[in-house]
Amino acid sequence: MFGKVRQPPTEEQIREALKQVKFPGFSRDIVSFGIVKSITVGDEVTVALHIITRDQNIPAQVEREVAGALKAFGKVNIQMTAQQPPQQSMPMAGQGAAPVKPNIPGVKTIIAVASGKGGVGKSTVAVNLACALSQLGHKIGLLDADIYGPSVPKMMGTTGQPTITDEKLDPKENFGLKMMSMALLMDAGAPVIWRGPMIMKAIQQFSLAVNWGELDTLVVDLPPGTGDAQLSLVQTIALDGGVIVTTPQDVALEVARRGIQMFEKVNVRILGIVENMSYYVCPHCHEHDDVFGHGGGRQEAERLEVPFLGEIPLFTEIRICGDKGLPVVIAAPNSEPAKAFQKCAEAVLRQLEKR
Ligand SMILES: Nc1ncnc2c1ncn2[C@@H]1O[C@H](COP(=O)(O)OP(=O)(O)OP(=O)(O)O)[C@@H](O)[C@H]1O
Ligand SMILES: [Mg+2]
Repeated sequence: MFGKVRQPPTEEQIREALKQVKFPGFSRDIVSFGIVKSITVGDEVTVALHIITRDQNIPAQVEREVAGALKAFGKVNIQMTAQQPPQQSMPMAGQGAAPVKPNIPGVKTIIAVASGKGGVGKSTVAVNLACALSQLGHKIGLLDADIYGPSVPKMMGTTGQPTITDEKLDPKENFGLKMMSMALLMDAGAPVIWRGPMIMKAIQQFSLAVNWGELDTLVVDLPPGTGDAQLSLVQTIALDGGVIVTTPQDVALEVARRGIQMFEKVNVRILGIVENMSYYVCPHCHEHDDVFGHGGGRQEAERLEVPFLGEIPLFTEIRICGDKGLPVVIAAPNSEPAKAFQKCAEAVLRQLEKR
């Protein structure tokens, strides 16, 4: 006789559902991006979103995806507002003269590690590449610019707030290289609500506010994706080259292409493509298996006429070492995965020498 009365959803349920929506071009969700301004529940659900972007298609795309994610909750009002980021003193890609990028005193070369999408092992490659370059006798710094998912300190086994000398941050030193991450300055678990222009400014100031000392090469782990924030960052730091990390699947290769375009837009040289999780090596029998159809990265590099830097196997040891805070290149320098990273490091150096 009595129909089941539908309970209004809680704010938490709505927030959880919104966390399923990724910001276009990023592997992070719109909640951690700070795009969700308010959630009101009652007879009807109202969600207010505010996006700062130059891409006019993004608000509509996010709105569609939010509507999809909240379908199960009945009628939902989505209030979307969008605004362009404030004009920066430096021109955006394709506009006006090349920006003047401040050099970091004492740092000879800066390279960025990027990926078209998240989860391809960009940080793992950045960390092990930096360690391998250090083992080759170079003075190396590692800058974690992935403000949304900083994993470099964890992979490098580094914790604790950095000290300050002469009003600049002292990098952490581990395994013979220097490392700095904004994660070291933030409360663990605090949501990152920064957006494109803010991140750009923060990272630029941040990279200049570190006592790097004399470095041969600074390796920068960029946030995943090829959106406004990454493009701004690539423009902001005086980069000498970019490394693209991809996995062998077609979809990943498609996004690798976008990574290459991102660097090309701002005239940063592509040092090459690294194919990560290239093939699986069984830890027991050491047999190789091409899980994702290995070799796509090399073919793609040839097609796009950019250098191919090497293949990194999918090796359980690589993940275990990353979780332990002891990169595989350091933990087991003679192992197969370490040798793969060392080959990539040598390929990167060959490319840099061609300058
Ligand atoms: N070649 C590999 N073999 C085994 N595990 C790997 C390999 N590369 C990465 N991983 C594991 O995959 C996970 C994701 O890697 P990582 O954090 O480096 O990716 P990412 O591209 O930086 O991700 P995000 O987009 O979250 O920043 C980690 O647990 C890492 O240890
Ligand atoms: Mg990462």
